[in-house]
Amino acid sequence: MKVTIYGSGYVGLVTGACLAEVGNHVLCVDIDPDKIERLKRGEIPIYEPGLDDLVAENAATGRLAFTLDPAEGVKHGLFQFIAVGTPPDEDGSADLSHVLAVARAIADNMSEYRIVVNKSTVPVGTADKVKAAITDTLAQRGSQVDFDVVSNPEFLKEGAAIDDFMKPDRIIVGTDNPRTAELMRALYAPFNRNHDRVMAMDIRSAELTKYAANAMLATKISFMNELANLAEKLGADIEHVRQGIGSDPRIGYHFIYPGCGYGGSCFPKDVKALERTARQVGFKAQLLAAVEDVNERQKERLFDKIRTHFNGDLKGRTIALWGLSFKPNTDDMREASSRTLMEALWDAGVHVRAHDPVAMEECTRLYGERPDLTLYEDHEEALAGADALAIVTEWNVFRSPDFDLIRKQLKTPTIFDGRNLYEPRHLEDMGFAYYAIGRGRSIQA
Ligand code: UDX
Repeated sequence: MKVTIYGSGYVGLVTGACLAEVGNHVLCVDIDPDKIERLKRGEIPIYEPGLDDLVAENAATGRLAFTLDPAEGVKHGLFQFIAVGTPPDEDGSADLSHVLAVARAIADNMSEYRIVVNKSTVPVGTADKVKAAITDTLAQRGSQVDFDVVSNPEFLKEGAAIDDFMKPDRIIVGTDNPRTAELMRALYAPFNRNHDRVMAMDIRSAELTKYAANAMLATKISFMNELANLAEKLGADIEHVRQGIGSDPRIGYHFIYPGCGYGGSCFPKDVKALERTARQVGFKAQLLAAVEDVNERQKERLFDKIRTHFNGDLKGRTIALWGLSFKPNTDDMREASSRTLMEALWDAGVHVRAHDPVAMEECTRLYGERPDLTLYEDHEEALAGADALAIVTEWNVFRSPDFDLIRKQLKTPTIFDGRNLYEPRHLEDMGFAYYAIGRGRSIQA
């Protein structure tokens, strides 16, 4: 089948490469000439394990191609996927200008039936706006062409996006046309494992499903973070509590890891956007507001612990920081807890010696060169002479470090662990002051 994808960012590229991999002919359209040139040369603008090979292999067969020309894109695919960004504007609602610009570009060039598939994360009701934009543009051109709009939200996790696309738990297809649902089923047939993964439903339910999934997961995390903070006050260990409740299949072990808050491009943005959508229809989404609020405070926890440990005497100190990305296996630092921590440390006059396996370039892009930040290629090098070590991202390489070396390199053997990587008793036996999240023993350190 022929597929066109607008937006060669994270979602668009993964979708394009995976659809090409199963035999479709995919044309990716983007408005950024530099990006298209780089993609044609085989350079991938983002870090996602396996994506570079997948793009290169499919580009080599000719099944995956890139263009700047929307007219070519509209001509190419029966399926026209919109996968452009929807950044939050000042009040937290999703900015739809890119999505609607693509809708108009499709309508400007459309001469036969097209299925316009919305993959970008957009508020409930956006499909209607896309429909209206296409209808209006066609009317201005004086042409009558049939089209359908489908909501097909993505559920990709950064770092595991290819696997998530190739082996989906579910494929949500929102459409009011049964024939379009069948065509979408056919497009996604190669990704069915054991049984049909496509769930067809009305458009608004599909749009809400995306937000509901992310809001639910964010709620689980904030709930656990709240309990972790309570466990600290009560002298209980949240890690035992986590295992104790996770064993109940109704609760499950997934997404109940307490830590220094959730970040990334989805959870913070989507929880805010859903809360705002609720407000717009006169509904007060109290739980969503609390989820967001708990997370904001959780991102400040490590700094609070550092400040308390040093009795507020932070000026002129140095903190070694392991992990900058919002989670492992990505260079993405959007809404990352590392940023909240670094910014608070800088405000307090602290020098940060940081290391991340892949996000250091991104860190320099965000903060530039500054006198109170030094980046190290090696995580052990970042320790030398620091007053303490703070850990924000659970990269595998941090899970079993050389504790002797850490003790020798730090001025005082002190670790602030925002991801509960170590056993408090073990660290205390080795002479560390160890502060984790919600672990009773560590608060006595
Ligand atoms: C998320 C959803 O998982 C995905 O389905 C959706 O399409 C996009 O948003 P992503 O943002 O890539 O994916 O990351 P995810 O692995 O979900 O982690 C999000 C954040 O939650 C990270 O900061 C992570 O550290 C944090 N987290 C996750 C916790 O603090 N505790 C947990 O138990 C799980």
